[in-house]
Amino acid sequence: MTRFKSQLKRNVLTLWEWVFVACVSIFCCVLLSLFAFSFSAFTHHFNFLTFHSEDLILSSSNRCFEPDEYDENHIFYKTIPYSVPRSQACAQSVQNSEDESFRKAFLPDIRLFMHKDDINMSEWNRLSHFNNPFGFMGFKYDDVMASVKLIPKPKEPLLDTKPGGDGCVRCAVVGTAGILNGSRMGKEIDAHDYVFRMNGAVVKGYEEDVGNRTSVYVHTAHAITRSLSLLKKYGYSSAPNDEGIKYVMIPEGMRDFYWLEGLFKGEKVSAGQYHNKQPRMYYGGQYNESRFYVLHQDFLRYIRNRFLMSATLNTSSWAIVRPTNGAFTLFLALHTCDVVSAYGFMTEDYKKYSNYYFERTTKTSVVFYLNHDYILEKNLWTKLHNSKIIRLYQRADSETGTEELKPH
Ligand SMILES: *[C@@H]1O[C@H](CO)[C@@H](O)[C@H](O)[C@H]1NC(C)=O
Ligand SMILES: *[C@@H]1O[C@H](CO)[C@@H](O)[C@H](O)[C@H]1NC(C)=O
Ligand SMILES: *[C@@H]1O[C@H](CO)[C@@H](O)[C@H](O)[C@H]1NC(C)=O
Ligand SMILES: *[C@@H]1O[C@H](CO)[C@@H](O)[C@H](O)[C@H]1NC(C)=O
Ligand SMILES: *[C@@H]1O[C@H](CO)[C@@H](O)[C@H](O)[C@H]1NC(C)=O
Repeated sequence: MTRFKSQLKRNVLTLWEWVFVACVSIFCCVLLSLFAFSFSAFTHHFNFLTFHSEDLILSSSNRCFEPDEYDENHIFYKTIPYSVPRSQACAQSVQNSEDESFRKAFLPDIRLFMHKDDINMSEWNRLSHFNNPFGFMGFKYDDVMASVKLIPKPKEPLLDTKPGGDGCVRCAVVGTAGILNGSRMGKEIDAHDYVFRMNGAVVKGYEEDVGNRTSVYVHTAHAITRSLSLLKKYGYSSAPNDEGIKYVMIPEGMRDFYWLEGLFKGEKVSAGQYHNKQPRMYYGGQYNESRFYVLHQDFLRYIRNRFLMSATLNTSSWAIVRPTNGAFTLFLALHTCDVVSAYGFMTEDYKKYSNYYFERTTKTSVVFYLNHDYILEKNLWTKLHNSKIIRLYQRADSETGTEELKPH
């Protein structure tokens, strides 16, 4: 009996021990999730140009990343025939690059833009085979179609060959990296046929370093709205709005399609994160249907899968990982220009500069957000520069000793 009692006592103790362990675990879990929550709130708050709140939801789903076949199967990437192949007009065109790996990946005739005449049920079905971002899987047909059916068919190519030139289209793509502060590259940038910018493209007050022209402005709904509120202190009052400017939208999620619907209708956004915002107010009076372009999901997937396939895409956070808007802009230029110079993109010596060129008075550090693979991009820019596919602006005074670009 005593033995039984003591055994019972021991069992009871063990039971209490278990209760204790369970309580401690629950406490830890609560603590951890609180921490995770505040961390995500923190990153969401600070990553104003790049972070996407719905991605948190996406990443917790069970969907997984499906890489496209690396082949020339144009079901994955639709192409359109060129009327005049670039390469014939301009000998030094990037399209004539001899670089083996670039040639293998590069599709000069990839479909760049999506528009209303280009979408029907079979197209919808094809694109629904690809996960979002950059596919329509998980989206509702009616939601997407409401805006895609309004996208005007581009009346003209994004860029024309300038009359009287040598047949080559020369473009400057201007990123926002700190390397541009004090660079005095403004004149050189403006001397190009076309100047591409993206995101928080602060120009006023920084002309000497970054130039004053914008021919093409590339954005997401997120970038065009957030830049405005967060960069006000740097004098940013509107997205670039030069006379005749072309606007290019990167539709990375449903909220961009809602944005487009409101924009084309000239109404408030009807749903999503930008509900009740007036998209047309964000283009500084230069919104014009015939100068508005929407990048094709095929193009976005192609850039990610062939040039910027981050190793993080193999992890559970794949759904939030995508190339930066700067990367898409640079690749858009590589598909529409002959000669491309990149300014304000990440370089090997990025630690010497602020995160953004407009952070002039305080030296800040480059912030690495989970949703972009900055090192992969930096290495790609260096590689493309070394194989003469782009000219990457680097400082002559940098430790790498790379020669400063000469104006042409
Ligand atoms: C649907 O659109 C695609 C792409 O524009 C086109 O190739 C196809 O022929 C169209 N199909 C039908 C049934 O109209
Ligand atoms: C840029 O600056 C040049 C020379 O300073 C000026 O002629 C030109 O009008 C400016 N362009 C814009 C878009 O402000
Ligand atoms: C829109 O842009 C086109 C091409 O630049 C121009 O011909 C047209 O007049 C513009 N429309 C408006 C309403 O400004
Ligand atoms: C992702 O994983 C697959 C299969 O394990 C592998 O073949 C591929 O190279 C990986 N991709 C990257 C970018 O790491
Ligand atoms: C930006 O450039 C100016 C002029 O060269 C320089 O005085 C300043 O220290 C730079 N700011 C940063 C944060 O590097």
